Amino acid sequence: MRVLVVGGGGREHAIVDACQRAGHEVLCTPGNPGIAAQARVIASPQDPGTLADLALREGVEVVIVGPEAYLTAGLVDACRERGVPAFGPTRAAARLEGDKAWSKAFMLRHGIPTAAHRSFTVLEEALAYAAAQPLPLVVKDAGLRAGKGVTIAPTFPEAEAALRDIFAQAGAQAVLEEFMTGQEVTVLALTDGERYALTPPSQDHKTIFEGDTGPMTGGMGVICPFPLTGADLARIRAEIIEPTLAGMRAEGQPFTGVLYAGLMLTPNGPKVVEFNARFGDPEAEAVLPLLASDLARHALDAAQGHLDPASVRFRDGASAVVILAAPGYPGEPQKGIPLHLPSPQSGEVIYHAGTTEREGQLLSSGGRVLAVTATAPTLNAALGRAYALADRVGFAGAQRRRDLGGRIGARPDPLPV
Ligand code: GLY
Repeated sequence: MRVLVVGGGGREHAIVDACQRAGHEVLCTPGNPGIAAQARVIASPQDPGTLADLALREGVEVVIVGPEAYLTAGLVDACRERGVPAFGPTRAAARLEGDKAWSKAFMLRHGIPTAAHRSFTVLEEALAYAAAQPLPLVVKDAGLRAGKGVTIAPTFPEAEAALRDIFAQAGAQAVLEEFMTGQEVTVLALTDGERYALTPPSQDHKTIFEGDTGPMTGGMGVICPFPLTGADLARIRAEIIEPTLAGMRAEGQPFTGVLYAGLMLTPNGPKVVEFNARFGDPEAEAVLPLLASDLARHALDAAQGHLDPASVRFRDGASAVVILAAPGYPGEPQKGIPLHLPSPQSGEVIYHAGTTEREGQLLSSGGRVLAVTATAPTLNAALGRAYALADRVGFAGAQRRRDLGGRIGARPDPLPV
C-alpha cells in the first residue's frame, strides 16, 4: 500500500517504521530527519484541505494521522470528503481529547469511572471552588496544550497560578479535579468505532524529574507492557473502553482511530484520568516495535469500518523508551544542539522527535528530541539496553529520567561487557 503518515515527531517516526516494516511505501509530512531516512518526506502546508488534496493526488490508500491538532482541525473529515480513507477520529469525535470539559461531561453521561470534577469558564468562580477543595488539586486546561496543560497543585497558591495561566487566554475553560492515587497506565484501543483491539498496556512518566517530581511534560519515557491483572483488564474493557465506544456511537459520533485511555488504578478500580484521540507519544514508540501484524492494514480496515481485532497481534517481550529532552524543557528548550547518534543494534531504535538537519549536521529543534527505544525478552533487559544506548548518544545537556519502571519495581539489567 501507499501510506501517508501525518506528523513529524517520535510517534510518527514509530508509525512510519511500523508501516515500513510491513513492506508499505510510506510518505510523510512534515516528517523529520529520522523519518526522511525511511520514507519520502513531503514539504506541504499543513492545513486539512491541502493535506487531503495531497493524499488524493499521491494516490494514497490510507492516511494515518499522528498529532491531535490535525484531528481537531478536521483532517480526517477532509480526507473522507475526498474519498481517501483516514485512520483517526473526525473533528467531532476528537472532542474526546480536544475539549476536556466536554470529555468529562461525556464520561458522566455514560457512567464511565473518572475523577470527580467541575468545569469553569470564569476565573473567580474557579478560584472560589479551588479554595474549598482538598489538596493536592488537579488543574487542567480544557483545551489542547501539548500534554502540558495539567498541573497537580500541592498548595492553593500553585492552583491559583495554574488557573491564572489558563485564564490568561481568551475563551479559556478550566477543569478542576480530585487527585487520584494509584498506578497510572495507558491503554490504547485501535478501533473502527465498534470493534477494537487493545495494544499491550504501557506506563508513561510524565514529570520532568525523577521520583515523579517537577512540571508535567509530554512524557519522559515509557515501559511496556505494564503488568495489568486480568481482573483490571476485564474492568477496563467493560467499564471504560466499551461504554466509551458505545457512547460515541449513541451520540452520533462514532470514534475511529486510536482511543487513548489514560487510567489510574485506584483502590476503587480503574478510572479515567484523560482520553486522547490518537497514539500516545512516547507510548507509540514503546508499543509499535512490539506489533507483529500490519499497522497500515489495521488502519485501512478501521477507516473502512471492518477491523478484525483477532488480526492485531503483538510479539512477546517488552520495550522501554528513554526520552532525551533538551535543556530548558518543558519550558523554553535550547535548540540547535549538535546530536551524534550511535548505530543501534537489532532490537534498538532511536526515533527522532525534535530534530533538524543543517549542512549535514543533526541538531536538536524541540523539547523532546530523541526517543531511545529497545525491545528485549524482559522489561529489565529492555530498560538496560535502552539506557545503554541513550548513554551513547552525543547530546550536550540532555535531560533524561533514570528511574523508568521504578514504580513497578523494574530495574535495568546491566549489559554484559
Ligand atoms: N504521553 C502522553 C500523551 O501522549 O498524551
